[in-house]
Formats: sequence, C-alpha cells, structure tokens
Amino acid sequence: MAEKEHIAVLLDEKRVFKPSKEFVEKTNVKKWMDKHGIKTYDELLKKAEDYEWFWGEVSKEVVNWIEPPRKILEWNPPYANWFVGAKYNIVHDALDRHAKGDKKDKIAYIFEGEPGDTRKITYGELYKEVNKLANALKKLGIKKGDRVSIYLPMIPELPIAMLACAKIGAIHSVVFSGFSALALRERINDCEAKAVITCDSFYRRGKKVPLKKQTDEALEDAPSVEHVIVYRRTGDEIPWDEKRDLWWHEIIKDMSDECETETMDANDPLFFLYTSGTTGKPKGVIHCHGGYAVGTAVTLKWVFDIKDDDIYWCAADIGWITGHSYIVYAPLILGATSIIYEGAPNYPNPDRWWEIIEKYKVTILYTSPTSIRLFMRYGEEWVKKHDLNSIRLLGSVGEPINPEAWIWYYTHIGGKKCQIMDTWWQTETGQFCITPLPITPLKPGSATKPFPGVSADVYDNEGKSIKNAGGNLVLTHPWPAMLKGLYKADERYRQTYWSRFKNTYLAGDVARKDDDGYFWIQGRADDVLNVSGHRIGNSEVESALVSHEKVAEAAVIGKPHELKGESIVAFVVLKKDVEPSDELKKELREHVAKQMGKIARPDEIWFVADVPKTRSGKIMRRLIRAKVLGQGTGDTSTLANPDAIKELEKAK
Ligand code: WT7
Repeated sequence: MAEKEHIAVLLDEKRVFKPSKEFVEKTNVKKWMDKHGIKTYDELLKKAEDYEWFWGEVSKEVVNWIEPPRKILEWNPPYANWFVGAKYNIVHDALDRHAKGDKKDKIAYIFEGEPGDTRKITYGELYKEVNKLANALKKLGIKKGDRVSIYLPMIPELPIAMLACAKIGAIHSVVFSGFSALALRERINDCEAKAVITCDSFYRRGKKVPLKKQTDEALEDAPSVEHVIVYRRTGDEIPWDEKRDLWWHEIIKDMSDECETETMDANDPLFFLYTSGTTGKPKGVIHCHGGYAVGTAVTLKWVFDIKDDDIYWCAADIGWITGHSYIVYAPLILGATSIIYEGAPNYPNPDRWWEIIEKYKVTILYTSPTSIRLFMRYGEEWVKKHDLNSIRLLGSVGEPINPEAWIWYYTHIGGKKCQIMDTWWQTETGQFCITPLPITPLKPGSATKPFPGVSADVYDNEGKSIKNAGGNLVLTHPWPAMLKGLYKADERYRQTYWSRFKNTYLAGDVARKDDDGYFWIQGRADDVLNVSGHRIGNSEVESALVSHEKVAEAAVIGKPHELKGESIVAFVVLKKDVEPSDELKKELREHVAKQMGKIARPDEIWFVADVPKTRSGKIMRRLIRAKVLGQGTGDTSTLANPDAIKELEKAK
C-alpha cells in the first residue's frame, strides 16, 4: 500500500526521472551528437527533421551496402522506397561481416533451454550453421523470392532458419509456435509457402508441445508445400511422411559451410509477418532488406545503447515482430551477445528469469508490462534471491505500462539506477518509433518522444494536431523500417493505414500529447484486442467461435485485466435448440484455442439471445463494452435491434 501512495504522489508531482550526467556521457547517442556538434536532446530532434540527411548519415554507422544508394528516399504515398538503388542483403551485415572479422569468436547467442540445457554459439559457428542450411534449401529448389514458413520455438535454429532463407533471397514467414495448426495453415496458404521448417516438439512449462504433429494437421490442406524440414529438439517420436519430410540434421550433413549471400535490392522483401486486423484474415506485413536493417539497427544502438561487452536480453518471442527486429536482425547487425530462453517465465519457479540474469550477468533487459505485472504478483522476495546488479538499462514494449508497474520495475529490477525505455512501435513500423533515448528525461507511463528522424503527432478526427486530449496517433513522414504494404492486399493497405488522413500513417492507437510534447499511448482505437502485448482481432475470435457447429453468432470485446492488459470476453448466441451449459462454454474455449492458439482463448463466455448490431449488420462492440464496463451506452436508436442491449443483462 505504501508503494501505491508513493506512486500517486509521484504522478501528482509529475516527477521526472533524469539519467545521470555520467551515464549520458558514455552513451552511443551522445558520442554521435558530439561528432556532429549537437549539444542537446532537443537539438538532436530538431536536426533530425532533415529526415533524409539524418537517415543517410546514421545508416553509415550500421550498414555496409554492396552498392550504395542513389537516393535516400523516394516517397510515392503510400509506398516508400528507402535507400533507392542500393544493392544489399541484411545477412551480409548480420552475419558474414562478423564471421569474417574480429567478432568471429564472439558469442552471438546464449541459449537456455527450459529443462536447463544450454548452448553458446559464436558468430563464426552461427555463420557455418546458416550456410549449411542455406545450401540445403537451395538443393531442395528454394530460390530467391520463394516463401518459406517457419514454425519453431525459441531455440537457436529459429534465427538460423530465418538467416538461411534471407541469405539465399527467400522470404521467411515465421509463425509463432504458440499458434494452432489452423492458424499456421491460414498463414502458409496466404503466402503459398514452398517449404515449412519446424521441429519435433519443444519444452513449455515442463510439458512438450508437439509442433510436428500440429504442422501435419496444418498441411492436410496446404497444397503449396513441397518439403517439411524437421529439427530434432526433444527426440520425441513423431509422425513422418517419407515423401515430404526431411530431418534438418540429415539434409545439412554433406553441405558446405560456405554459401554465397544473394545480392538483393535494398527494397526486396526480407520477410512477411502476419498480424491481426479489425476484419477478416491476418495481414501479411512486408519488410525489406535495406530500410529495415537501418531502422532497427540504429534504434537498438541508440535506445538500448548496445556496447561490445553487453549481455542483452530481449525476452520476447521471435515469432512476433519484437523478436524479429530486436532478437534477430538488429542485435546481430550490431554484433551483440543475446540471450534466447526457450521456456515460460515462471517455470519451474517465479525466479527463473532472475536466475538467468544472475547467471549470465545480463546488462540490458527488454520485456512487456504483462510480464512485469506477473512478476509483481509473485512479489519481490523472488527477485531478492538474486544479484541483478549487472543490469544497467531496462525496456518495455507491447502495451501501455501503468505507472505502478513502471515504478516496481524501476525499483526492484533496476535497483533505482536504470532508465526504462518504454518503446512504442508496431509490426508495421518494424522499428521503435516513439521511445526515449537513454539521455531522455522519463515520465513513468509515457513513451516520451519520437525517435530522431521519426515524425509523430496526435490528430483529432478532422486531422488537426491536438495537445492534452486523446486523439489519433499518426506518423506524418515515412521512416526506414516502414512496411512495404501488405502481401497481395494493396487496397486493404491503403484503406487501413492511409485513408483517414492524407499521406499520413494512421497507427490505430489513441494517444495524448502533453505540454512538453511527451506522448501517452492509451490503447487501441479500433476493434483489436491487446492481450499480453499481442494484437488479436476481435473479429478473428468471433469467426473462430462461429465456426463451431452450435454457435449462431458471437461478439467479442476486451475488458481491462490486471495482468494481461485485456482479457477476452465473448457473447455467444447459440443455434436454435442448443442448450447452454458450462460444458459447452468449456468446449467453445477449447475450440477457439484449437482454431487460433491458446492466446486467443476467451476468458469469459456469456450466452445471450441476441447481440446489438447496426442496420448494416456490424456488431456494435463498443456499445457492448460500454455496457459491460458499466459506462453509458448513449443513443442506441440507430441499432437494428435496440433490445439486444437489454438482452446482455440476461447473459448466462
Ligand atoms: C500495438 C502493436 C511492437 C511490438 C509489440 C507489439 C501496442 C506497443 C507499446 C507501448 C503502449 C504499445 C500499441 C500498438 N503497443 N508498444 N510502448 N506503449 N502501447 O506489436 O502486435 O504489432 O502491436 O501494441 O497498441 O499499436 P504489435
């Protein structure tokens, strides 16, 4: 309680956490500022408004083009080409350069398996493993531009598989290992993957998750797939299709550990990553080699201040954008040493993470408010068992961090000596967009200001820039790691992000800008849930529910949840003559888990006679939400079925 009161006071005081002068002096960003005669943070932001100069200049710090760009930016809204004309392959900087240089024997990844097995992989070793797999993929007929779906857990083979694809110019599409067979199938079919890379099974919370079995189920209806490459993680017995399946260790056995890196155009696609939208199926977000390399590497170098002796741990899953950008590509470009942990944060005990930090002397920790709240609930006794003094910088991502969690993180994990980088960004942005630098004064709960060279604002519905009020978060100028559209969905791309304000990117979040120009992100504006820092479309959960034979209709909303940010609440209309029961609720929850993965399983299911809809048949989720949260529902006369609101009260 005392801690709570303390926080309230902090908020009233609007206290600001300033980094020490001594710390600032040693940061990467300060060194760059000194080199360019820039004295203050504000001056840096101002100077970087010359966007092309800025990104052209900082790109020199992180990438080595095969052939340099003719032009920094070509902006044909809503498509941007960065580093136009440059010849490049991200693998050249992420791997080849280190393996051939003085980082050859430096550790790239420290792997900690859930059962406690560990591996350390140097840049030189990583290079060889990637090359062997790349050669094997080539031998199987995978070529530049072909798509490869990767369905792997948090083991080093996941980055190895991604890099092997990128090396030969194939496009990877990683599917989070927590997703179900049907979610995998949908993603494979959308990009028409030629091959799938998976493993037998992996460890999670002391159990084994049967990925190969799930892959087989996905492939029951995925005609594009010719090969399945299976890495042996646990040694479990698995189903096998002689014509289609190949063991990873067998196909690489006779392969050379040298493989030429395919020369690509800076604007050629590197990967697709699917993310949820308000309607229909997941969107295949496209990222390219050049701009993505610059945008992710510069932001990581400055925001997390990566130095040669850091042990950096981004505790996200590589299956999401956070892992793609900040476990795989950016840290490798910077030649960093990163941790990869396979398992659950609280397995076997709630101090597993603190144990890992102490064991490897982790210096930078980057995680989500959901995880922080989980650890808060277990209490600081678990933290106190370990020496976390090695930590010098902290980070947060995925959802707004509530000041209470911020202070806990600051106090108990950072020992009141570490700045917290609250980074706002998205699958689509590829890189941090609104984020502090280690030199930025912090306000708990605010992601502070746009990264230099990124232009963000808050607009009212008329497109006017506003302060001190909630509005639409927008990005008003292209940034290097910006998505290159959605795969085979140009119209949807234009509609979703660019139709609201002219030549301006609509992020889909509500935010407020204060008098100091600090941004306070308040959550999603559209019908997308944010569960544990991951986006899930309300409509996706609804269609999963409706695909059950006993369900006629469903409306899904998010409700604030102490731990997860939002919990999923479903209102279900059953088909005629179906009896509501608790067993059926359970069955429906499992049904959604099977369709989409456990992350999308509704926390609450309520049976109702009707759900409120507009005359055009759109489910009024906002209204349902207001009703559930006990807020006013306003004028409901435009509804096709105004009585449905009252029906919600009779929910069983
Ligand atoms: C959405 C993007 C980017 C990696 C993780 C999620 C929310 C993200 C923050 C933050 C408040 C945040 C937004 C955003 N979000 N970071 N620091 N503060 N909200 O990636 O699945 O593409 O989701 O996550 O709502 O739009 P994603």
